[in-house]
Amino acid sequence: MRYEVTQDLLTGNALIDSEHRQLFDAVNKLMDACSQGKGREQIQQTAAFLNQYVRKHFQDEENLQLQSKYPNYASHKQFHEGYRRQLAQVVEELQKNGNTVKTLGDLNQTVAVLVSHIRTEDKRLARHIKEH
Ligand SMILES: [Fe+2]
Repeated sequence: MRYEVTQDLLTGNALIDSEHRQLFDAVNKLMDACSQGKGREQIQQTAAFLNQYVRKHFQDEENLQLQSKYPNYASHKQFHEGYRRQLAQVVEELQKNGNTVKTLGDLNQTVAVLVSHIRTEDKRLARHIKEH
């Protein structure tokens, strides 16, 4: 399956939505690299990019929260920190064990957590930014 920012996942904030698109794109590339049996180097590259992009994206969201004095900043940031660790762990597992049913399942599970975060928390954030 491929991840995409469907209508129901749009937050209405142009920066956040475009970064979510790039993020899903990075996940798709990593999954392609794994499922197409691409070399270790390409898996490493796509995995490193995903980790780095998630870091940048969360930082950008946190900056938007500070600028707009978002009241849920602390809990949102806490989620981001935990999530970065969770993702880094899954990606490491994937780099170590390669394309196994378990690691791909874990990656999908991790993306599902992000999708649900976008659907609730990021939409809430975008509404706040629009009103402030
Ligand atoms: Fe977020």
